[in-house]
Amino acid sequence: MRVLGIESSCDETGVALYDTERGLVGHAVHTQVAMHEAYGGVVPELASRDHIRRLIPLLQRVLDEAHCSRQDIDAIAYTAGPGLAGALLVGASFAEALALALDVPALPVHHLEGHLLSPLLGDEAPAFPFIALLVSGGHTQLMRVARVGDYQLLGESLDDAAGEAFDKTAKLLGLGYPGGPALAALAASGRPGRYKLPRPMINSGDLSFSFSGLKTAVLTLARAQELTGADKADLAAEFQEAVTEVLAVKAVAACRRQRLSSLVVAGGVGANRRLRQRLDQAMTQLGGRVFYPALELCTDNGAMIAFCGAQRLLQGEVPVSAQGAFAVRPRWPLDQLS
Ligand code: KG4
Ligand code: ZN
Repeated sequence: MRVLGIESSCDETGVALYDTERGLVGHAVHTQVAMHEAYGGVVPELASRDHIRRLIPLLQRVLDEAHCSRQDIDAIAYTAGPGLAGALLVGASFAEALALALDVPALPVHHLEGHLLSPLLGDEAPAFPFIALLVSGGHTQLMRVARVGDYQLLGESLDDAAGEAFDKTAKLLGLGYPGGPALAALAASGRPGRYKLPRPMINSGDLSFSFSGLKTAVLTLARAQELTGADKADLAAEFQEAVTEVLAVKAVAACRRQRLSSLVVAGGVGANRRLRQRLDQAMTQLGGRVFYPALELCTDNGAMIAFCGAQRLLQGEVPVSAQGAFAVRPRWPLDQLS
């Protein structure tokens, strides 16, 4: 079975073809970073319009790469939420219309479920059950994953998501958009510990997070003095230490509490090298292991959506015919899948 995946929830247009026998056979992403850069963040209306322009050429690229034609597509999975309403609608209407034209089923997929299952696309996939740390621009969550479709939320951020904290702090330091990778790059040349930042909720005894105070602490420091380039690098390094320490401590605590030794990390912040270093070290000490998606599948892509749709179809899920009527869910908690 060949499942086409369509992702358009934010600022990346992703299309991919997943073959349940051969694996990922085609995969293409267009990132809108250059377009939004001038505005310092994602402009939703521009994002929607760009998805419209990109989807058909990307589909053609993926089919060419897979040496397939449209008639070889057996089902279409698309991101139905959470995300930007207009951007989601572009992908949803494209997918539903193509499915109608090809007379194949269309399957709405939860964006975070796509992220969560993305490490299973790798050669060495973790066995169920496992703990998943979802760290993206919009979410910071720890989940217990019993099997495909069975997700128990163990804890999440009470305010800013980890990626959001990276992005906002990067903006404060004048690093532009997207802030996460820029801040991480600057941190590499800085010295952590010169500035002292808090480790929010590290001893809270639960699996909740709070990152908005860190951004405020950086703002206070930035207002108190004129920061040189070296100061900014030191501050970036300390900020990265603070966020990754809290994430690692809580992720390992979740594994301990649930007596599980496999940890899956997904979402854009999962690309952060310092986070990976900390998690690998802590999980090895616990006698466990961390599973990551391939680096290119950490940020938004169509492959994870195609894979997620394929898993659900393999489980026997029957897509409900939209008959021309469908809806997207800009807000959609992962523990409310049905
Ligand atoms: O999963 P994703 O592509 O989109 C969402 O679903 O949100 O995650 C994007 C987030 C952004 O906040 C970005 O700044 C952050 O992931 N990010 C990083 C790194 N690469 C991406 N944060 C820290 N370090 C990185 N290397
Ligand atoms: Zn995402």
